[in-house]
Formats: sequence, structure tokens, C-alpha cells
Amino acid sequence: MIKVGIAGASGYTGVELVKLISNHPQARLEAVTSSSYKGKPLTDIFPSMRGFESLICEELDAKALSTRVDLMFLALPHKVSMAYAAPLIKEGIKVIDLSADFRFSNPNAYEKSYQKHTDKDLLAESVYGLSEIYRDQIKTARIIGNPGCYPTTILLALLPLIKEKIIHSKGIISDSKSGVSGAGRSLSLTAHYCEANESFTPYKIGNHRHSPEIEEILSIHAEKKVNITFVPHLVPVTRGMVSTIYGQAAKSVHVTDIRKAYDRWYAEEPFVRLLPQGRFPAMSHVRGTNCCDIGCHFDEDTGRIILVSAIDNLLKGAAGQAVQNMNIMFGLADETGLDYVQSPL
Ligand SMILES: NC(=O)c1ccc[n+]([C@@H]2O[C@H](COP(=O)([O-])OP(=O)(O)OC[C@H]3O[C@@H](n4cnc5c(N)ncnc54)[C@H](OP(=O)(O)O)[C@@H]3O)[C@@H](O)[C@H]2O)c1
Repeated sequence: MIKVGIAGASGYTGVELVKLISNHPQARLEAVTSSSYKGKPLTDIFPSMRGFESLICEELDAKALSTRVDLMFLALPHKVSMAYAAPLIKEGIKVIDLSADFRFSNPNAYEKSYQKHTDKDLLAESVYGLSEIYRDQIKTARIIGNPGCYPTTILLALLPLIKEKIIHSKGIISDSKSGVSGAGRSLSLTAHYCEANESFTPYKIGNHRHSPEIEEILSIHAEKKVNITFVPHLVPVTRGMVSTIYGQAAKSVHVTDIRKAYDRWYAEEPFVRLLPQGRFPAMSHVRGTNCCDIGCHFDEDTGRIILVSAIDNLLKGAAGQAVQNMNIMFGLADETGLDYVQSPL
């Protein structure tokens, strides 16, 4: 049994992790932490968890956790995670961080979009946790920077085509939409019911912090600098994320070439589902699952490749992928604890 702790269990991704680990056949939930609800049962925060009153929130203390957990999920805001990761690693505890603090290989790129990085050694050691692409490195990692939700949709759709030089690395556009839980549980005006409900709003055009994360990974795989135009939108649903991606074909292609590339990369992957030709993903088809659904189209008149990629931002975009990474780190099949059948509604 893997002994697991979850920091930030009072947040949206933290509580998803609580749910997943509580149902995981090879993991046992040993600790949940929250600074605001220390000493209180998780049921005080999430009434839907009534019946599980034994989960009491505690303070995040690496020393106190060292004998109790093998792995800690940090479902904390960026900057907060950075301070906790090293003490946990020092105690021999593996770390999967859901914030942006350990996602970048270039600290300057992180610092340009976030703030000063205070643990560059650990950043250099960390592995980017896009499970399907970095599986070999994840197997032996002590620390994982779990990817952002938008980057997960965009990178899973684009990487096979970038790597195989099917899509031109210049001029890619991603028009992406997120449900409101993508902003976390803390209150903000944009997530206010009256602001978000019955509306559809583009935001952070030209300066969203996920752009440099997406561009860093695309550039590594293209072996040259790749810039993309990324336009996020807020949509009035609780959870879900769809990216519609446009790019020019780099060579003469047929849609079957695109489909074959996906097959080469993902045929054995349980959580990437390439939809049949002519079918496209929807938020409701991936909600509650750890799947990334991908649909593709080639427009012969314009030479444009159109990709649509959908995930549940709280699962494949956060907690689900984090558990998938834990499974890989501990030698389990990716699907362990994640292969439940989801309600279609
Ligand atoms: N939401 C998503 O779809 C999503 C997807 C991918 C990645 N992420 C990333 O995952 C991390 C957690 O996201 P989330 O959506 O679960 O956020 P959230 O709902 O706001 O929860 C974050 C938790 O962190 C704890 N925390 C500890 N120190 C804090 C501090 N100084 N300031 C604020 N909160 C503090 C809070 O609990 P206490 O105050 O009780 O300690 C809070 O419940 C973030 O880094 C986020 O960027 C989120």
C-alpha cells in the first residue's frame, strides 16, 4: 500500500485527490492538510463527504509526516508549494506538485510569469508530469511538476504532430475554454455566479501564465522555438475544458496521416481517446473521467489542421493525472484507481 498525504485538501483539486485516493486499491490516505481548517473534519468543508468524519485536517509538517507517508500531493497555490517541497523530499517523501512551481525546466521562464524561484536545484530535478509523454522519467522521479490544465489539452493534441513534423510549428492558435472550477475555490469577482453565469468571456489574452509552459514543452519537442497564440475563455460550467487548435499542415497530408500519428503515440494509452473520424469531443463526455478525448479534421482547401481536445480540468487537468503519475512512480498500471465507469450525465 502506498501511504499518501494530501496538502490543500480544502481546495477543489485537493478534495478530488481525497476522493480518488480513498477509492484507490493500492493507496491509503494517511493525512490531509489545511491551514484554514486545522483540527476540523473535512466534512465541515465538504458536506458531501459526510460519513468520512475521521479525515481531520492537520498542519503540513514534513517531519511529522515522514514516518506516515510515502508520497505527498501538494494541491497548493504556486509559491506556497515551493516552500514545502524540499523539506518533504529531505524526509524521503516523494512529491507531486499540482502548482506551477516545478513545471518549468527553464527557471527564467518561470520567473518571468510567476515570481522568483527559491529552489532552483529541485526545479532542475523535477519531471514534467504529462504522463503519456514523460512516463520513463516519471518512473524514477522524486518530484513531479504536474502539468497545468490548459497545457494538458493542448500538448496531448499537438505533441505527436509537432514531433512528427506534420503540423507547422509557426502560427498555431489554441482557442480554449474552461469551466469555473479552473480558478480554484477562493472567491474572485470573475468566478462570481452573476459574472460567470450565462456569459462566455475571453480573458488574459496575450498574458496567460500557461502560454510559456505550453511553449517550453512544444519547443523542446520541435527542437526549435515555438510560439503559440493561446486565447482562454471562461464558460459557465462547473468543470470541463475544451481546446480547439488550428495549425497549418507542414507537408502534404491526408487526415489518415494525422490519425496514424496519434495511433503511434497513444494506441496503448488508456486515457487518450482518439475519436472516430468526423466525431469531436465534448466537455460532458469527459466529465468525471481521467480521459483526454481528441478529434481531428484536415481542411484541404486551406491546408489547415483542426484539433479538438477535451478534459475534465479537475481530473486529467489536475488530480486524475496526478494519481496517474503516482501509479507510474510506484510501478502500478496507469489505470489503477482511475478505471471506474463514469455516469454519462
Ligand atoms: N482548479 C484546477 O482546475 C487546476 C488545474 C490544474 C492545476 N491547478 C493548480 O492546483 C493548485 C490547487 O488548485 P485548486 O484549484 O485546488 O485551488 P483552491 O481550490 O484555491 O485550493 C488551494 C488550497 O491551498 C491551500 N492553501 C495553503 N496555503 C495557501 C495560501 N497561502 N493561499 C491560498 N491557499 C492556500 C488552501 O487551503 P487552506 O487555506 O485550508 O490551507 C486552499 O484550499 C494550484 O496551484 C492550481 O494552479 C488547478
